[in-house]
Amino acid sequence: MCGIVAYIGDQPAAPFLIEGLKTLEYRGYDSAGLAVLGAKGTTAVRSVGRIRDLEAALPKRLAGKVGIGHTRWATHGPATEANAHPHRSEDGRISVVHNGIIDNSGMLRDRLTDAGVTLASDTDTEVIAHLVARSTADTLEAAVLDALGQISGTYALAVMDEAHPDRIVLARNGSPLIIGVGEKETLVASDAAALVRHTSQVIHLDDGELATVTAGGFHTFDRNAEATGRQPVEIEVAAAEWELTGHQHYMYKEMLEQPDKAAAVIRGRLDERFATARLNGLNLSPKELRAFRRVKILGCGSAYYVGQIGAQLIEDLARIPADAEAASEFRYRNPIIEPETLYVVVSQSGETADTAFAVSEIKRKGGTVVAVVNAVGSTIAREVHGGIYLHAGPEIAVASTKALTNMAIAFAMLALHMGRLRDLSVADGERILHALKRIPEQIQQVLDNEPAIAEVAKALAQAQNAFYIGRVRQYPVAREGAQKLKEISYVHAEAYPTSELKHGPLALIDESMITVAIVPDDDLTERNVGAVQQVLARGGQVVALSHESVDLQGLDVERIDVPKSEPELDPILMVIPTQLLAYHAALTLGYDIDKPRNLAKSVTVE
Ligand code: AGP
Repeated sequence: MCGIVAYIGDQPAAPFLIEGLKTLEYRGYDSAGLAVLGAKGTTAVRSVGRIRDLEAALPKRLAGKVGIGHTRWATHGPATEANAHPHRSEDGRISVVHNGIIDNSGMLRDRLTDAGVTLASDTDTEVIAHLVARSTADTLEAAVLDALGQISGTYALAVMDEAHPDRIVLARNGSPLIIGVGEKETLVASDAAALVRHTSQVIHLDDGELATVTAGGFHTFDRNAEATGRQPVEIEVAAAEWELTGHQHYMYKEMLEQPDKAAAVIRGRLDERFATARLNGLNLSPKELRAFRRVKILGCGSAYYVGQIGAQLIEDLARIPADAEAASEFRYRNPIIEPETLYVVVSQSGETADTAFAVSEIKRKGGTVVAVVNAVGSTIAREVHGGIYLHAGPEIAVASTKALTNMAIAFAMLALHMGRLRDLSVADGERILHALKRIPEQIQQVLDNEPAIAEVAKALAQAQNAFYIGRVRQYPVAREGAQKLKEISYVHAEAYPTSELKHGPLALIDESMITVAIVPDDDLTERNVGAVQQVLARGGQVVALSHESVDLQGLDVERIDVPKSEPELDPILMVIPTQLLAYHAALTLGYDIDKPRNLAKSVTVE
């Protein structure tokens, strides 16, 4: 969603701003803009569409060494040039870029209009520029604090002032903002991706924190103007991790990375001696972990579906009641927070607003919340009691793949760990541990089957509608498979528990309907084969995701076999062909796979 970049240093600001905005394109946006402060004042340029359009609209000479830039994902008002950021005060002195939502902007807009201010946009952000400009405070810092005292909501802000050209003032509340410390320059971005080519020294601002950045450094402070004395930390991810490295799409690159990334999330975390997993980052002692009587997993979209895989794993291996819920629903239903429940939030970005809100709500009510999260230093990672980092590296494609796979593996390790603290036997612990060790090479085997899967995907690309069906452990896989197909190929797909088909959806089966049926080799195989027969009997087409050992009784289906793991871990491998099916369907249809329409990588607003 929205992205912020800012620069102050000894070089022209525009090249960094444009490069940074291009790096943030993957997050999703519909318009963009920048403002550069030079000897003759501020030059601001905004445009609807891609960053290359903004770049084309820039004046030839733009030498100012102070600047702010923004990608906007419309919330208040449509995607128009007037609504794009930066927003400016009436006299043009103050320029502001903002991520987040100002909740009381309606009231503030009315108040400003009554005071004679002419508003130039439909946005909530614009009020900030006017409030800062109207402050009578002596310094830009005090003026920003004045403005913040009048607004409520979430924000990451960068404010530039022609009267104070030696600085940019930043503020954060609920939306990420990172300072990058360079040689004779200070860089700012809402996502570390925009900084890594320039510096590895960063400061993640905390909620309620502000900063002044200058060419020579930075000063952090709180709402009372007290210094917070933050020091830079080292970013661990190499800049190359953000590159396409010769692939056509990030999604493809990220799918191919899965064997290595799966090995990375497991590395150092399996304890052969006690047939368990070592998860020190949870910051929970064996005694504390044993005391929980329930586990509640919260995430959004695909992360929620993997949470369902996780809940099943925890029930299977640790025999603790566990369930998963969409964090986006949880936040609106005044949830009961129990001291004996372990809350686990799951998120690739660590910035999903609904999931972050769930964390705050659980903490506010005294619950214990840990995270399964990919982005190191992200909002969620920093808010929770402890957690499991996914080590999947940056994920750029909107359609999540490698992070989801590592989430499922992380849940398997959590379930193993909790199980071995309870009643899971050494023999069962060893069974799971050894199966986990084989997962990376088995993922590779699925990927090696890509040509056959791509062939099957051609039929999906032609379909108007598809069903994905799976039973019990495989139902979340069906949900995730349908989600992937919808997201990038725009083919309408719905997931059902296989057992539910006969209770209604069967009415929709005809020759035009493709059903992707998950038919693993387990104690439910016969029932699953029976459901496939029911679909075929009604003229439907079937793609069966199965194991080689399953006898499909010569049924007329397109069959994709995946390697067999232990039944509890089979869902981890079954997800992989659903990724390839969706990818190749979208490729056949010629869609923009990494930037599907209407979607953003990281959903940082409600
Ligand atoms: C996955 O392909 C989707 N783009 C989406 O459902 C995503 O999983 C969801 O928005 C949660 O994101 P997060 O993992 O960053 O919290």
